[in-house]
Amino acid sequence: MRIRTEAPGDEDAISAVTEVAFRNAPHSDQTEAAIIVELRRAHALTISLVATDADGAIVGHIAFSPVTVNGEDQGWYGLGPVSVTPTCQGQGIGRDLINDGIDRLRALGARGCVVLGDPAYYGRFDFRSNDALTYPGVPSEYFQALSLTGTMPAGVVAYHASFNAK
Ligand SMILES: CC(C)(COP(=O)(O)OP(=O)(O)OC[C@H]1O[C@@H](n2cnc3c(N)ncnc32)[C@H](O)[C@@H]1OP(=O)(O)O)[C@@H](O)C(=O)NCCC(=O)NCCS
Repeated sequence: MRIRTEAPGDEDAISAVTEVAFRNAPHSDQTEAAIIVELRRAHALTISLVATDADGAIVGHIAFSPVTVNGEDQGWYGLGPVSVTPTCQGQGIGRDLINDGIDRLRALGARGCVVLGDPAYYGRFDFRSNDALTYPGVPSEYFQALSLTGTMPAGVVAYHASFNAK
């Protein structure tokens, strides 16, 4: 398994992995592949990584895009969507994509990252929910943040408009 940045020509395979991974996922509205397409079109895919198998086939993908806090760019990013092809799940591919992505965010000078997802999974990467940084409309334990500077901003987070893609 290898992780590399998305390259021209990867777009359809990324959509396919995303669709198949989320097909039976709870809480999915099946818009994840469209969100990635829209983020790419809007030049808001700050980081887009693929995991490839021994044959070079794409078996996983992760996206990071800018978020705002109280409507302002504060150097924070959102993790997701993240997908691993169902037959390849549980082998650490998701973990490697997340860790590699966070390393790259840090290298870009990002101040932190948020994620919407299962705390049992994202807690492994030190994401934690907190009372100061919030995302309306979801149970607070599912919205989690990881500071890369030691400082946690306070406010309401909004994802990029591409997350409204259908
Ligand atoms: C979430 C996902 C990317 C993880 O990829 P992966 O390669 O299977 O993950 P890893 O191999 O690194 O980790 C697997 C471990 O995480 C656990 N895990 C995976 N998804 C989980 C979830 N949603 N909630 C809690 N635990 C989860 C597995 O049970 C496994 O636990 P174990 O190590 O104790 O056996 C993958 O399961 C996936 O594509 N899911 C469907 C799409 C999705 O839900 N994406 C995330 C939305 S926020």
